[in-house]
Amino acid sequence: MNKVIRIGYLFLFLTSLLFSPIARAGGFLMQQPLKKQSTSADPGRQLRWWQDEISKKPYSWYRSEEGLQMAENILSWQDEGTGWPLMSTVREPFTGDLSRVGPWGKRAALVKATVNELRFLARAYAAVEDERYRTALLGGLDFILNAQQETGGWPKSVSQKTGYYRYATYNDDVIPDLMTFLGEVLTAADFRTIGEEKMQAVKTAYASGLEFILNSQIRVEGKRTAWAQQYDPVSLEPRPARAFEPVAISGGESAAVLHFLMSIRKPAPEVEAAIEAGVAWYRQVQIDGLEVIRTEDDLRVKANSAAGPHWARFYEIGTNKPIFAGRDGVIRYQVGEIEAERRRGYAWYNTSGTKVLERYGEWRHERQWDDFPPTNTDESRVREYTLPDPLRMEDGRPVQDRTDWEQSRRPELLALFETHQHGKTPDTPVRVVPEVIEKDVPGMGGLSRRTQVRIGFPDHPEVSPIRLLINVPAEAKGPVPILLHISFTPNVLLFDEPGIDEGMAWSGRMQMRIPDRDALLLKDIHPELFLKKGYGLATVYYGDIEPDFDHGGQYGIRALFPSDGKRKPDEWGSIGAWSWGLSRIMDYLETDPAMDSRKVALSGVSRLGKTVIWAAAADERFAMAIPMLSGEGGAAISRRNYGETIADLTNPLRYHYWFAPRYEQYAGAAGELPVDGHLLLSLIAPRPVLQIVGSTDTWSDPMGEWVAARAAAPVYALYDREGITGGPEPELEKPLLLDMGFYMHEGGHRVLPGDFAAMLDFMDRHFR
Ligand code: GCU
Repeated sequence: MNKVIRIGYLFLFLTSLLFSPIARAGGFLMQQPLKKQSTSADPGRQLRWWQDEISKKPYSWYRSEEGLQMAENILSWQDEGTGWPLMSTVREPFTGDLSRVGPWGKRAALVKATVNELRFLARAYAAVEDERYRTALLGGLDFILNAQQETGGWPKSVSQKTGYYRYATYNDDVIPDLMTFLGEVLTAADFRTIGEEKMQAVKTAYASGLEFILNSQIRVEGKRTAWAQQYDPVSLEPRPARAFEPVAISGGESAAVLHFLMSIRKPAPEVEAAIEAGVAWYRQVQIDGLEVIRTEDDLRVKANSAAGPHWARFYEIGTNKPIFAGRDGVIRYQVGEIEAERRRGYAWYNTSGTKVLERYGEWRHERQWDDFPPTNTDESRVREYTLPDPLRMEDGRPVQDRTDWEQSRRPELLALFETHQHGKTPDTPVRVVPEVIEKDVPGMGGLSRRTQVRIGFPDHPEVSPIRLLINVPAEAKGPVPILLHISFTPNVLLFDEPGIDEGMAWSGRMQMRIPDRDALLLKDIHPELFLKKGYGLATVYYGDIEPDFDHGGQYGIRALFPSDGKRKPDEWGSIGAWSWGLSRIMDYLETDPAMDSRKVALSGVSRLGKTVIWAAAADERFAMAIPMLSGEGGAAISRRNYGETIADLTNPLRYHYWFAPRYEQYAGAAGELPVDGHLLLSLIAPRPVLQIVGSTDTWSDPMGEWVAARAAAPVYALYDREGITGGPEPELEKPLLLDMGFYMHEGGHRVLPGDFAAMLDFMDRHFR
């Protein structure tokens, strides 16, 4: 049950934002649908009659006139009780006219062509029990089993025994398709009719096929990569096929192999290792910034920094350089160097890697809750706990006044958070240079003056700049208070207007670069509202600071800092990195006379709510913090053991990389953590904080967020500021606009219109 809830929750998080009223008003879009791409010159097209038409038919259909006729047609095409030709064999019967047999002109030419007929016959037999079906089925199955080579692979064809036809091949997805089919035989009820003995034979074949796949993964300097198109069936050495199909690692065929491996339930460790390595290879050889233009009779490539990722069909083993060949068989490194006929006539580039990475994201996701304890969402099962006292030093001394707080307890707490949760932000100086690429350009339909800045790192050209977009009210005279919002979405999608700095974003799920416009669109801020009320709005896409996935640090600002590659227990994570980026933006705001840098509020949602809290705790220049739905690792009290826990966060397949490695030690032991959510909030005192939470956002634990807000009150009291002293529970939909503010909307893990109204009221109250 708990798994369902969690997955449901994650799904809800995305869908709720997508389908919220604001989302609808804002014209929400998900990531662009990926174009379906076949991995090879696809004979599968002829074979899709099963998937496209028949596979969903009920058993009763097999007893219908149409079903019975199709079965007869299939039987008529079988080649002497063995295989079937490469074509749709259900439409008409074989009349003896060999010229009508498939594109290959021979029956049983392609081993894999047989699988759909067998799927059909197995189901038809279950429905009709005509023994001829079963005989044909067994014959076809034997044909596949007999075609398997000693080493576990299959050739394309058994009737053609020469040349590349005898190689074990991934071309045309032969092996993955056969393996998928055998997997079905082993599990689907329709195939039980083949009997125990045959089932054993299928099991053996499947195991040996899997071994072939694992053994044929090409190793370079001991490291697994991906797969070649075909292999010598004895030595398992990669082999060339047609003149233009050289020995290479294939960025086409390997995709289907990985899809097959990722379809295996409960994969063995070796299978997992093969998947991880194959996916890592896909990532390594991804080609960015290349547009592939196909015309009627040619194929050209040209540089285009906003082009989506591509993969080459062939990569040279050892160098991973894309390679190409024409009919002369000479290896070239540019597709333009082979003849036009071959340029156009072969699939030199593909986008199958995108699908691989997408599927990999799901695969990891499917597995992340294996063996995890259930989530508690029952208030009565919240264990007893004691919160560390914000006003008592670790050595027991009480904090008497502001001086004690500022000079002793606050630094102590900051250090504790660095040591145990967020890690230390390095103090190594890095050169940061803001480049103002546009200043005071009219924007938002005349509502604003727009400034765009690229905060760059000239000593590290490999680290992309942070793109900052600032809108100030067009009419503003003098410096304005600013809301700095860190968003899930690139600026170009948040602001639907021309002229916005546009480039590449990141897909966290696929762990790769994608064009800004293909990124996830979550309207987690509503710009007009703030401008209309006289506030400036600065927005930054969090992926510009650092991408949101494990090891994403190497592609973001953490790469600016020297590291020996080994993670130290108190090393910073992504939340630290995102916060660092926010401080660099603050550096810029301080230099721009149009901004009132003493009145900068920070906002962000969910993981970015956690970020906002840490950024404001660490950098006192931020005058206000508005964390929304910050949850576990943010304001929520970990000790409550309600909703998400530290164990959930630091799950190696989830978000451990947001934090310092030591945080993981408190999985299942929150009581031992010397800090908790209320102390994070306390670090922002006496500056105003508005938490926005959702009444049904159980994963984030709204009550825990409330308890934290209340528990920070003594620190606000030190400054004669208003903390929360009232009620055991927050009031629904009633913004509490004290210095420690709180607003609980009715609803879940999503941003609602009322949230923006509460934010504006809060800003008015404390900034005006
Ligand atoms: C996940 C994660 C939460 C986080 C949320 C988000 O659900 O478990 O801790 O707040 O993502 O960022 O939306």
